[in-house]
Amino acid sequence: MFATPFSVCARGASRQINATARRLYQVLAIETSCDDTSVAWLDHNPRSQRCHVLQNAKVTLDSVAQGGIVPTQAHEHHQGQLASLVKQVTTTVRDSYGSGRPDLICVTRGPGMMGSLSVGLNVAKGLSVAWDVPFIGVNHMLGHLLVPRLNDKDVQWPFVSLLVSGGHCILVRSTSVFDHTILEESIDIAAGDALDKCGREIGLRGIMIGKELDRYTQDVLDPWKEDSVVDDIKLPNPLTGTKKHKLGFSFAAFITSVKEFIKLHPIETLTAEQHKLLAARIEDAILEHIVTKIGHVVEGSPELFKECRSLVCSGGVSANSKLRLKLEKRFSSIFSKFHYPPLDLCTDNAVMIGWAGIEMYDECNHHIASDLDVLPLRKWSLEDIVAVSNFRTSK
Ligand code: KG4
Ligand code: ZN
Repeated sequence: MFATPFSVCARGASRQINATARRLYQVLAIETSCDDTSVAWLDHNPRSQRCHVLQNAKVTLDSVAQGGIVPTQAHEHHQGQLASLVKQVTTTVRDSYGSGRPDLICVTRGPGMMGSLSVGLNVAKGLSVAWDVPFIGVNHMLGHLLVPRLNDKDVQWPFVSLLVSGGHCILVRSTSVFDHTILEESIDIAAGDALDKCGREIGLRGIMIGKELDRYTQDVLDPWKEDSVVDDIKLPNPLTGTKKHKLGFSFAAFITSVKEFIKLHPIETLTAEQHKLLAARIEDAILEHIVTKIGHVVEGSPELFKECRSLVCSGGVSANSKLRLKLEKRFSSIFSKFHYPPLDLCTDNAVMIGWAGIEMYDECNHHIASDLDVLPLRKWSLEDIVAVSNFRTSK
């Protein structure tokens, strides 16, 4: 019998875990929102809140030759990889722990690329029917936001998160698993996308150019060291002084500046030292912009941060140690604790989808599930988790 409106379940039943909901349960998680096919297996004890990651597998589309992710290729990649990855994970779990049938399936429903999402969602629906277990369609950004809580019980509500990835750059204030307010977001492209595009403009190559850029500039002590050629690049700190869009990140202007500089000073004319200095300046300017804009929000609305002791930084770009350092230096008087996922859980992975599903499932006393007719969502704001999830609830 599915009767209770989800909103009542979300707020009323929270943490009153009953006898059936108390037992240990197994979760199969699937993430296919972009170019990573990822499958994980989590073993969760709701009473102790201990969650063990038994399997975490990922196969990333190689798009180095294309210079970026082609959606049709990502769609094909998931179709080719997902079923065998599920088989590999379930077989390993069965051989090592006895059962390859989970109690719950968690799958990314959005936001992301429609073709990519549909592969994961359809496989999850099929498995849910075959095994007769519920499935939950999870918001990808909620996965990034909640994953630091998997191993770190110190991340307590309310807290603020900076979610920085290839698709997003948002500052969010969260008061519960279901309640999130976006304080600031990008008005054009995401931070990771900007790092990737600028890195590519200056000749770096790889599947994740932001990561290559981070690695390449590790030994640069002062990105703003004087240099007769590199000093020609004018990297803006967009929207800093303007009233309009004061509360927005913006990264498109960096790419224009880098392109203009490259036109005047082709890469082959730079010395190795100048090239590295240029790379470090670009990276630093982008990271500095993020910190500057967060500073505006803090100064503009200090009351929003009063009860928040923790700043979470998650998403692919959160792997960047220079960003972590900047955040801690700038905001140590606002937050007493800074939390990041372990490095392998910064970029896209199925563990975070499994964990976000577990947090929702426990919060609702195990009385929620997605319907079999839910569709993938290209866009899905964190502010609309409850409204859009449209879970059926059971008693
Ligand atoms: O979260 P993610 O795996 O995918 C999205 O949801 O978008 O983030 C991928 C992004 C890419 O833009 C990649 O270049 C960036 O994260 N990234 C990094 C680092 N590692 C990954 N950027 C800066 N420094 C890193 N160490
Ligand atoms: Zn992501």
